[in-house]
Amino acid sequence: MDTRPVRLGVIGLGPRAETLLATLRNFSQEECCVTAVCDIALQRVEKILGIFAANKLPLPRTFADHRKLLADSEVDAVLIPTSWNSHLAIAADAMKAGKYAGIEVGGASSLDELWQLVRNAESFGGACMMLENCCYGRNELLVTNMVRQGLFGEIVHCSCGYEHDIAWELVDKNGCMCERGFQNLKRCGDLYPTHGLGPIAKILRINRGNRFLAVSSFASKARGFRRYAEKVGSPVTEFAMGDVVTSVIKCANGETITLTHGISLPRPYSRDCRVQGTKGIWLEDAKGIFIEGISETKTEIDVAGNPYYTHVWDPVEKFYEKYDHPLWQEFRNNPTGGHGGMDTLSLRAFLDAARNRTPPPIDVYDCAAWMAVTALSESSVAAGGLPMPFPDFTDGKWIYETRGKISKWDLNA
Ligand SMILES: NC(=O)c1ccc[n+]([C@@H]2O[C@H](COP(=O)([O-])OP(=O)(O)OC[C@H]3O[C@@H](n4cnc5c(N)ncnc54)[C@H](O)[C@@H]3O)[C@@H](O)[C@H]2O)c1
Repeated sequence: MDTRPVRLGVIGLGPRAETLLATLRNFSQEECCVTAVCDIALQRVEKILGIFAANKLPLPRTFADHRKLLADSEVDAVLIPTSWNSHLAIAADAMKAGKYAGIEVGGASSLDELWQLVRNAESFGGACMMLENCCYGRNELLVTNMVRQGLFGEIVHCSCGYEHDIAWELVDKNGCMCERGFQNLKRCGDLYPTHGLGPIAKILRINRGNRFLAVSSFASKARGFRRYAEKVGSPVTEFAMGDVVTSVIKCANGETITLTHGISLPRPYSRDCRVQGTKGIWLEDAKGIFIEGISETKTEIDVAGNPYYTHVWDPVEKFYEKYDHPLWQEFRNNPTGGHGGMDTLSLRAFLDAARNRTPPPIDVYDCAAWMAVTALSESSVAAGGLPMPFPDFTDGKWIYETRGKISKWDLNA
């Protein structure tokens, strides 16, 4: 095993880059060092250099053009927390340069950019991993571990989503405030599918014996952004994005997945996860798991004197001690880093793959299948819910089940 520190470049220096860099500051110098940074906006570069200086860290080389950073021989791998419209092209260039690319989450604007990503990963020396931190969330990994051990029986249906009131982040009295605001102004579909869908795709072994076949999407009326825009006096009030976009994905092995995108109505945050099999269910919003034979089933008597049965939720925490994923058994006493520690785990998984030049646990075929939901759901909404078939980005390789672990970071075994 290679033990050199991974020399990292960071392309895109917005708020997400700042939280990734804050997490990386907890890593040892033997794990990684940031040798180069890049942003098209000079003020972002200057802000990041200020953070390096304040933390007494060696200053990285700076670039305005990602292609110049990618040509730097002192960069082994790159993190790409740029805005959605630039992720995929930069990742494709990174692979052409033979680098490992850690791409931030988001959806694709077209299937063509996903094909380019896949073909570049297949043709050149690099690899692409989506930094989908939610795949390393404690509950997501707990349930993955329990599913692999058969506690849920055969999985039949899942749901997931991104339900997060962020209207305040996207609109103010001057109009749309950021790229994400413009995306929601102009587009209608599931623009942010992977926080929920990534862990579910891993549980269902998508691209490893299973695949997404087709998606049908519907959008509700759009009121939330307008309501918020009027409240703050924004000159922009008419958003294309429906308040709740609901998609249903059918999988080759028969499972269905319901996916919800809702970011403009007031509600507590949820990734809306549900994993349901022939023997049990996890429901994130109930904070509960029910497993036949482990959880309680009460027998009660109705008014006519007949028995009926009530299944009772167990709190998720009840399963931690015995069924925490091995990664969390190791990590649970000291979970440092952004998003409750998920950022630490996903970055370590990426660094491990980049250092050893092994296949990443969330690979280019996963990126393509998960991000395709955005482009396909937009087309489906526009066509009144017509099912849109997923391309097979693996060119048939999905029929083979993965056997054996690549590394301890593997999510597929
Ligand atoms: N995984 C998570 O939990 C999580 C959390 C927040 C954001 N994100 C994702 O991180 C990404 C970045 O989010 P953000 O809020 O920092 O976005 P942002 O738009 O504020 O910042 C993106 C930065 O990228 C720069 N950029 C754009 N195109 C570029 C290019 N071609 N070359 C170099 N730099 C370029 C922009 O100038 C900007 O500074 C998004 O994809 C977002 O969805 C993920």
